[in-house]
Amino acid sequence: MSEIYPVSDDWKKKAFVTAEGYTAAYAQSVRDPDTFWREEAKRLDWMTPFTKVKNTSFHEADFGIKWFEDGALNVSANCIDRHLPERKDDIAIIWEGDDPSQQRRITFGELHTEVCLMANALKALGAQKGDRITIYMPMIPEAAMAMLACTRIGVIHSIVFGGFSPEALAGRIQDCDSNIVITADAGMRGGKLVPLKHNVDAALTHCASVKACLVIRHVGNDIDMQDRRDVWYHDVRKTVPCDCAPEIMGAEDPLFILYTSGSTGKPKGVLHTTGGYLVWAAMTHHYVFNYTPGEIYWCAADIGWVTGHSYVVYGPLANGATTVMFEGVPNYPDHSRFWQIVDRHQVNIFYGAPTALRSLMREGDDWVKKTSRSSLRLLGSVGEPINPEAWEWYYHVVGEGRCPIVDTYWQTETGATMMTPLPGAHALKPGAASKPMFGVQPVLVDGDGTLLEGATDGNLCMIDSWPGQMRSVWGDHDRFFQTYFTTYPGKYFTGDGCRRDADGDYWITGRVDDVINVSGHRMGTAEVESALVAHAKVAEAAVVGFPHDIKGQGIYAYVTLNANEVESADIRADLIKWVRHEIGPIATPDVIHFAPGLPKTRSGKIMRRILRKIAEGDVSNLGDISTLADPSVVENLVQSRSTAG
Ligand code: WTA
Repeated sequence: MSEIYPVSDDWKKKAFVTAEGYTAAYAQSVRDPDTFWREEAKRLDWMTPFTKVKNTSFHEADFGIKWFEDGALNVSANCIDRHLPERKDDIAIIWEGDDPSQQRRITFGELHTEVCLMANALKALGAQKGDRITIYMPMIPEAAMAMLACTRIGVIHSIVFGGFSPEALAGRIQDCDSNIVITADAGMRGGKLVPLKHNVDAALTHCASVKACLVIRHVGNDIDMQDRRDVWYHDVRKTVPCDCAPEIMGAEDPLFILYTSGSTGKPKGVLHTTGGYLVWAAMTHHYVFNYTPGEIYWCAADIGWVTGHSYVVYGPLANGATTVMFEGVPNYPDHSRFWQIVDRHQVNIFYGAPTALRSLMREGDDWVKKTSRSSLRLLGSVGEPINPEAWEWYYHVVGEGRCPIVDTYWQTETGATMMTPLPGAHALKPGAASKPMFGVQPVLVDGDGTLLEGATDGNLCMIDSWPGQMRSVWGDHDRFFQTYFTTYPGKYFTGDGCRRDADGDYWITGRVDDVINVSGHRMGTAEVESALVAHAKVAEAAVVGFPHDIKGQGIYAYVTLNANEVESADIRADLIKWVRHEIGPIATPDVIHFAPGLPKTRSGKIMRRILRKIAEGDVSNLGDISTLADPSVVENLVQSRSTAG
């Protein structure tokens, strides 16, 4: 059992909620959600006040999730306009380029003008309320402006991470039928150019729905502009008015789609709506980060992921915070980069991913210690379980023992943080996500769905709704219900395993389904498998995760080649290149293990449990293999494991 760090006296004073305050507010949020959320929703400006608060059911007979359903509001007005009277000249966004000499500061007043201009530019290209616009951008202020511009005119945005390949981008554009794509000429990461527009060109050859592509000039590289489809933003910007009234949006009108991987099939378009999502993002940002006006807040996530949506853009801006956007990577130009940025911009609150911390920890403490970091007062972690070693390093070396760490557990589906220790309220346990947020009702169940009480391990479910819950899978509402509410009827199943300790604190143990978490990026094993089998030389593939020191989990692919093919280093290299091409570099297999056969049951189901064990190198205890159609396959895989690479 590792150490417990009690709340310091200093933090007891700074806390927005004390331990007792949390207990009381949590109890109320569960006992009387209508009153609790009616109060919390006052954080936002509503154009039409709501009268109904919560209208939700996880049961098949009356399944549905609605919050504040008869209210109306606009997200961009809440993130910008309402701050103008007091904060027009305060900094909304601090941008730090990949190149350390590049910085920009954008005030709320400037953000207002820029978002209006971009909204009008989108209208000039034909955008209308309810349309879907795909955003494929580097981490530059225009990415946040594009998101806010969409919300201003009631357009649903779908951001695709800039590291996805043209094929993956095309699939996501097609799925939600986008009519406009917003991109940049290129992005820069670690001194390397990411050819965004070039990738869009390749994707759009398969996307008939796209009528226009709005291009932001960022890097200045040469790109092709297609007549009648592609327009430079700096050209349209000059031709449109600089004011744009915010559209009145129903609380349950769609806000954005974000594609994420599940255990089966192609990525799902997770749909979030307007009112509940923004209340949830703003409220959690306020409590979790103890944000005080005037402070500099930095979430190092990319806007291509949900963390970037909720905690780079919507949560902080709804609260009038100064949010830092960083284009680059933690180790460029050197391993001090994160902490140099902290010093340069006097960052008070830093929120990052364990994978980045582990990669920096490996380089030694000097890179950290040669920076001051005296401005830091709170640290956060997100995206995957943080191992206690990395936690301790983050706490003692980066935070010098003075900054609490909020280990925030949540998912694309949950909109924002579901569990975390609240700073100043809860003692810290390295690796624990600790306590549920207000309104979140976690339970642990066994494989049969039986509720488990007390200190125990189990599958993590939620028994009631919270405002920021996803509302549907884009274009497939039935898939939403089937994916999350049928494994344990009447409950939302997270897909995560979890332990509850004797103090009632929660510890996420990782996915229990076929989703793997590679460097904090969610990857469906089925997606990587379908990319592999799409290769002409591959007959069959099975992909599992295995423990990886830096990435958390790595990708281990068992590949059966077609009968006439011979295993070789060339084919291995070709397969890796192929997967990167089909999905993107984040899906690069770490290991390819050529397997003449895969362990299957007599009914043909691949026994992943065995494949996971072999990938982990834990071959002494493979369990019962007698039900396999051909048990010798396993022996063969164990023998050939050393040749995998
Ligand atoms: C994992 C990212 C442990 C978990 C916000 C979840 C975590 C998946 C934590 C969602 C954490 C996220 N501790 N595990 N603090 N945060 N996870 O959708 O397995 O990209 O189901 O959302 O990441 O990943 P997603």
